[in-house]
Amino acid sequence: MKILITGGGGFVGARLARQLLARGQLAGRPIQRLVLADQVAPPAALLADPRVEARVGKLLTQCDALRGEDVDAVFHLASAVSGECEADFELGMSSNLDSTRALLDALRARQQAGAAPTRVVFSSSIAVFGPDPAYPFPPIVGDDTLPTPQTSYGTQKLICEHLIADYTRKGFIDGRAARLVTVTVRPGRPNGAASSFFSGIIREPLAGQEGILPVDLDVQHPVGTVQRMVDGLIAVFEASREAFVGRSAITLPGLNVTVREMLDALEAVAGPAVRARVRAQRDERIAGIVANWPRGVVTPRAQALGLKADASFEDIIREYIADCRADNPAALAGLG
Ligand SMILES: NC(=O)c1ccc[n+]([C@@H]2O[C@H](COP(=O)([O-])OP(=O)(O)OC[C@H]3O[C@@H](n4cnc5c(N)ncnc54)[C@H](O)[C@@H]3O)[C@@H](O)[C@H]2O)c1
Repeated sequence: MKILITGGGGFVGARLARQLLARGQLAGRPIQRLVLADQVAPPAALLADPRVEARVGKLLTQCDALRGEDVDAVFHLASAVSGECEADFELGMSSNLDSTRALLDALRARQQAGAAPTRVVFSSSIAVFGPDPAYPFPPIVGDDTLPTPQTSYGTQKLICEHLIADYTRKGFIDGRAARLVTVTVRPGRPNGAASSFFSGIIREPLAGQEGILPVDLDVQHPVGTVQRMVDGLIAVFEASREAFVGRSAITLPGLNVTVREMLDALEAVAGPAVRARVRAQRDERIAGIVANWPRGVVTPRAQALGLKADASFEDIIREYIADCRADNPAALAGLG
């Protein structure tokens, strides 16, 4: 089987690639080839595997070549992040919307030339939810909550969810969309996402650095580890059409947790000196954006597929620490 991961050089995409290579199969079929399409090169450890092929460049410029290619499975993760899309409208429209349409049309051309519809999993986001003056916004969103996005990123994700559903209805692809919750703790440097601080207040203190908290302690948000999100994307791929139920997007499980609970967990796992490295410095811009986000998720459709949220935020921190011990021990320099 040949699998394409767009965004395969990114955080979730590279982790998904690693997991698929370790499994060796998807939906019971051996993986012969894993194509990672991204504007940046994937990590060297992935390239060392002979099954991996990297295609570096903008997705929009890669889609024409895909028209004649036999690809059995697609995980479509390539995306500009929320902050980038808000700052640069053209970039978001091109990277998120135009690229997705070009990818889906390449797969449609393949189906119309006689191939079976390609199974596609699209990584959407809970950023599709937001408060619209016309609709009361439930603090906890479910699979049946009306998405009324309040950002360009959330709007692009929602449009793509509908494109996936419609190309599926027409029989061009066999598509599914899964909304990821905020992945925490994200390693490396802060990124352009307004949610970046949810990781920063844990990652930076563990590395011996100051972590800045721009919002109040009682802010609550759904989060999950990268491992849970990867497990979710694979389960969504492997689900039968009947088990997935319908064509609309599902939300992957998340742990609904307050910032106070996050910091208490940090102290329980790493000690008071590590927690003391978090400094509150309110940022009205970020606080304003976060105030428009869901405070939690309920995810009956994902749970029916056997998926669960992380059990506790302490578990989330312990998993991050275990990942760092394996990949980058220097990231734990602050852990006595
Ligand atoms: N990480 C999260 O908390 C989170 C939450 C909700 C949804 N998501 C979604 O999950 C997916 C993966 O997220 P991530 O955290 O790995 O993000 P990431 O930024 O680490 O990875 C995305 C990758 O897409 C690539 N990319 C962007 N535009 C491209 C283009 N035009 N052509 C080719 N490559 C392009 C980037 O180079 C990057 O490597 C994204 O679709 C994101 O919207 C992530």
